[in-house]
Amino acid sequence: MPETDKVFAGSIPENYDRYMVPLIFEPFAADIAQRAASLSPNAVLETAAGSGVVTRALAPRLPQGANYIVTDLNQPMLDYAASRQAPDTRIKWRQADALALPFEDAAFDLVCCQFGAMFFPDRTAGYREARRLLKPGGHFLFNVWDRIEENVFADDVTNALAEVFPNNPPRFLARTPHGYHDTALIRRELEDAGFSRVVIETTAEQSRASSPRHPAIAYCQGTPLRNEIEARDAGKLQAATDYAASAIANRHGSGEVAAKIQAHVIVAVA
Ligand SMILES: C[S@@+](CC[C@H](N)C(=O)[O-])C[C@H]1O[C@@H](n2cnc3c(N)ncnc32)[C@H](O)[C@@H]1O
Repeated sequence: MPETDKVFAGSIPENYDRYMVPLIFEPFAADIAQRAASLSPNAVLETAAGSGVVTRALAPRLPQGANYIVTDLNQPMLDYAASRQAPDTRIKWRQADALALPFEDAAFDLVCCQFGAMFFPDRTAGYREARRLLKPGGHFLFNVWDRIEENVFADDVTNALAEVFPNNPPRFLARTPHGYHDTALIRRELEDAGFSRVVIETTAEQSRASSPRHPAIAYCQGTPLRNEIEARDAGKLQAATDYAASAIANRHGSGEVAAKIQAHVIVAVA
């Protein structure tokens, strides 16, 4: 994975939170928060928290005396998340790599991570780290996107950009967010990391937007796909976004648009 695939900085955090989060992350954040709350954890660690969509959904559902540590590799994402969160003394924000977490062994009842594992350079090492931090019987709850063909706007944008840059198509979306969907591999890597009971559920939702422009801006300007487009031609970001918007309009219409998104939701016991 190129280093730029994990750089969420500059104007990405704001565009991510404004466009990507309502488009595809909110329904799955509600799902993670509901599953997490049903485990009644007191000490919770969130990794790869991004702009805080899960934190905002989960914090109100945790007990009064809970301890909720929220981390991400990129400080600008965490700053954005903290700026959107209502004051809450139970929450501590901390920049941290999910593969080298600065916490003691067996400190948490729950480690949760929404759409972060695909960015880990070594998933088994990331899972081993989650397991180290869990009390015996604690839960690791996370989700990953299914293959890009099951996530229609991401596929549309990737295909459109292949026409804009035919000699060197930007493949970030297929390579990284949608590059880790093999459930047998996920299960094996969790077992290699020492987790025992592993349950994987595949869940579909609808991604909705008020116009075709919204998903085009979301993917082209609110994710590291932006870094990849600008590396090819910094002056072409707007034209590439416009082309992706017209491709989505051709397929889904020029008014409100909706399309399938699909993810795997995983619970593993330490
Ligand atoms: C697709 S976003 C998901 C963010 C958030 N969980 C959400 O649902 O909106 C992926 C996040 O993973 C973070 N990330 C990438 N590599 C990481 C690592 N090694 N450790 C922790 N976070 C990482 C990025 O900074 C980014 O915020």
